[in-house]
Amino acid sequence: MRAYSNIAVLKYWGKLDEQLILPTKSSLSFTLSELWTDTEVEVKEGKGVELYINGKRAGERAHERVNGFLERARKFYAIPSARFIIKSTTNFPLAAGMASSASGFAALSKALNKALDLNLDGAELSRMARLGSGSASRSVHSGIVVWHKGEDHYSSYAETLFDKDYWQDLRVIYVILNSGEKKVKSREGMALSVSTCPFYNFWIDYEERILLPAFLEAIRERDFERFATLTMEASNNMHAVCLATRPPLFYLNDLSRRVVELVNAFNEREVKAAYTFDAGPNPAIFTLKEYMEELLALLPGRKIVSGIA
Ligand code: PMV
Repeated sequence: MRAYSNIAVLKYWGKLDEQLILPTKSSLSFTLSELWTDTEVEVKEGKGVELYINGKRAGERAHERVNGFLERARKFYAIPSARFIIKSTTNFPLAAGMASSASGFAALSKALNKALDLNLDGAELSRMARLGSGSASRSVHSGIVVWHKGEDHYSSYAETLFDKDYWQDLRVIYVILNSGEKKVKSREGMALSVSTCPFYNFWIDYEERILLPAFLEAIRERDFERFATLTMEASNNMHAVCLATRPPLFYLNDLSRRVVELVNAFNEREVKAAYTFDAGPNPAIFTLKEYMEELLALLPGRKIVSGIA
């Protein structure tokens, strides 16, 4: 079963509940057509998990993550005690801040649903995927997706707000500056931000009350200039939170900052592009079809151009 990666414009960065993966605030993302994970699950007699990623047996850490996910998911779904052979293929660099866990756990939830005949609907699949990785709750859906923060397993789930064809001229350019693994995993980084960033509560309140409604209006009106301005603001704010975390979290590097400057220069007369960074140095750049070629020529690194899935 295939699930696509997503890029959040309003980020998830912090949990209220580590077990259920309930976020401190809602988030908003775009599902990306060119970045995906395909997963098949085979259920055999026995116990435990055998995980293969891109044809190779995955490491201990990945096995532990999947086991932890299955344990949490068992509390809510009829997952038998059996041996799960999980084969996953992905078409983009893993763990480089490109939401590989998002498409990974979304694809795994869909594959389990199929292999075990669970008959879960979209909202239920989103809840299940959330138990693997927060951002995965959004990746089970297409288009422009909101993850409602909620307050328990039932109320915390994602849904499509605008379908994939709503903003047809919109494009996302993923710029791969560095495909190495990130220094501090998002799980650890966000926990540090929640407990040490002095303006963390101000930030979540501002995003929920001011930025989320502003984003929804800009998208509804397909107002690129407003949308792009909000996107860059939200990314900057999240990285300000990271910088104000103890010890500070540096996800951007010199090349990332160079891209910020390039985009600012490109936008000097009219806002034609917006950068956003997750917990890694690689930017995703939103733009419109008409500015694509010009922008591609300007940007460094390997580029993946995507539409909305
Ligand atoms: O789902 P996780 O635990 O990999 O967290 C991802 C968080 C960010 O990518 C940094 C932001 C987001 O909302 O996708």
